Amino acid sequence: MKISKSSYKRLLIVSYRLPFTIQQTDDGPELKQNSGGLVSAVLSMAEQMGQNQGDESTKIHWVGHGDASMQQDNAPALENETFIAHPVFMDEAVHKGFYEGFSNDLIWPLFHYFPSYASFNEADFQHYQQANKRFLDELTALIQPGDLIWIHDFQLMLLPEMVRQAVPDATIGYFFHIPFPTYEIVKLLPRSWRQLLIKGLLGSDVVGFHTNDYVQHFLGSVSEVLALPIIEQRVVLPDRSVIVKDFPISIDFNKFNTSGQDTTVANTRQHYQNLLRQNKIIFSVDRLDYTKGITYRLLGYERFLEQNPDWHDKVTFVITVVPSRDTIPQYQEIKREIEEAVGRINGLFGTIGWRPIVYSYNSLSFPELMALYTACDVALITPVRDGMNLVCKEFVASRYDNRGVLILSELAGAAQELPEALIINPTDKQEVADAIKQALLMPAAEQEERLIKMRNHLQNHNVFRWSSDFLTAFDNLKTTHSTLETD
Ligand code: G6P
Repeated sequence: MKISKSSYKRLLIVSYRLPFTIQQTDDGPELKQNSGGLVSAVLSMAEQMGQNQGDESTKIHWVGHGDASMQQDNAPALENETFIAHPVFMDEAVHKGFYEGFSNDLIWPLFHYFPSYASFNEADFQHYQQANKRFLDELTALIQPGDLIWIHDFQLMLLPEMVRQAVPDATIGYFFHIPFPTYEIVKLLPRSWRQLLIKGLLGSDVVGFHTNDYVQHFLGSVSEVLALPIIEQRVVLPDRSVIVKDFPISIDFNKFNTSGQDTTVANTRQHYQNLLRQNKIIFSVDRLDYTKGITYRLLGYERFLEQNPDWHDKVTFVITVVPSRDTIPQYQEIKREIEEAVGRINGLFGTIGWRPIVYSYNSLSFPELMALYTACDVALITPVRDGMNLVCKEFVASRYDNRGVLILSELAGAAQELPEALIINPTDKQEVADAIKQALLMPAAEQEERLIKMRNHLQNHNVFRWSSDFLTAFDNLKTTHSTLETD
């Protein structure tokens, strides 16, 4: 039997970050809705479920961490025509142990294969449990029959099972936005923690990952940790089964494709190209993170400059690092390392009239980002580990002109979908240097050929397809259950 999509009445989203921030304006604090990919995906899912924007009874409820600005007396109502936000407030110490500690100081480094950066702290795990329970309390007060609950990311791994215990009939989806590593890494977690985390995820009906590798790694851990039977991509529990499947996240292709052609963007692009004296532009943008391989990238560029003096003065590497998690020591350390490398390379090769690297530690506005995506000749995206990486997809979608070359790390999930990029290993300075040279010299026809293939792929595999495939996976639940009963 198939469940019709409209059998879900409302969508309840749970993620660490809410889709709103509160901004100070001359008229007082105002609610600002974020325009990230997840928000677009959620809106399109709600539409597929037959929900109409503006319909009070089917507004999308979003449970997420509430910051101090949301608790002030003059804070605006956390609601607009589409979303109702439900902030989860918690004790400062609990939040610190949960977010900075267990999430960002243990799970993040461990699951990105940086075990030596991981700190195993019992109090942090207790805070992680308490924080997930706080999310549960906020969520259970909302749940009604017919809701589809969609929980996101590594900060909330215990929540699906907590919801299952509280509301056994709930329909729960979970998407994991970072890599899921091999069991050898998961095994570093204390036995009871890994059991609780894997069981936590299995509270869901559907668990999604970006790639099939992550699916296989997760299923490997399920059988090692809990010894549960797995039939194809279903984990079989006594009373139900859990579908585990890959859903590669993506972007709103049309938004990037059309914004590239916008006149404000074109003017900013022209301005940047003039500032850089029409040099060839290499561009990268990342959140500050040791997983992004920024220092290796700089060393690869340095090797390129060493070996290719004829390119001096003709190329500029524009590198933007977006501030993130800078209260954590490893993030402060990586920032120092990046800035040292930038200073050294500029000092070594720069002249009065030419800076080989233009570095900024700042956020870019959307038009600035679009101007740089469309101005650059080469996008250099070289994480040492990345669940997916959307920057490379945004760059490809922006290039309506079929010009530009993507150099992409084989350690980003996106490399599996974009084989027409120049795929490199980010730790191999020589390979990066050679790829930069190849990219700068690549004939226009070859740039076009590679970009057309990648653009076609992304046009078909956009963020709306991602959420629609995720929603469709629930159709198989009933079928799966009845098959199991007759097995
Ligand atoms: C990654 C994670 C998200 C996280 C984001 C920003 O994309 O998968 O869950 O929200 O980084 O990190 P932050 O710590 O600022 O939330």
